[in-house]
Amino acid sequence: MATSEARIMSEFSNPNLDVLITADEIQQRIREIGAEIARDYAGQKPLMIGVLKGACTFLSDLIRAADIQLGIEFMAISSYGASMRTSGEVRILKDLDVAIEGRHILVVEDIVDTGLTLSYLLANLKSRGAASVKLAALLDKFERREKEVPIDYLGFQIPDKFVVGYGLDFAERYRNLPFIGVVKDPMAE
Ligand code: IMP
Ligand code: MG
Repeated sequence: MATSEARIMSEFSNPNLDVLITADEIQQRIREIGAEIARDYAGQKPLMIGVLKGACTFLSDLIRAADIQLGIEFMAISSYGASMRTSGEVRILKDLDVAIEGRHILVVEDIVDTGLTLSYLLANLKSRGAASVKLAALLDKFERREKEVPIDYLGFQIPDKFVVGYGLDFAERYRNLPFIGVVKDPMAE
């Protein structure tokens, strides 16, 4: 085992992380949002679409906090290179397995940053004839917004910092943290 690995015995108490939102705070807020969703969608059998991979943690906790009949689906999308950033065009890597015409759709996303990805995705889903398309996002990095995206159910607004944990990664690491943290030194192991 490398010495750095030996020193950092626990990923969850990794000294290179500052805790921004605790696991308890996340779970408490999700209980509130879940109850709100259950009230708003009662009798509508919404289809909740999780955006892979980051939203998988939020989606799995959120559906257990929403005491109604619902369905889940997943999509995977990736932005094109830097030159395509401004257009907001994204590539669909994994599309839905079902038609959504007439369905009430709730997109579940980990974080809204520039808003480019979500504004493309929401427009794309609306064009498929959904009865309604709404958005639930755990985090809102509002200072970085380039395209307006209405967030119907929001966990937390956060400052303009690169965050990890609870599904969010830095080079595929830290998704399994039960809290949201900020990496102090991105170069450290
Ligand atoms: P947007 O199109 O700029 O809103 O990009 C949103 C996507 O970028 C999210 O779904 C995340 O995958 C990623 N992202 C944005 N900010 C962060 C962050 O602070 N940590 C980890 N991933 C992030
Ligand atoms: Mg994402």
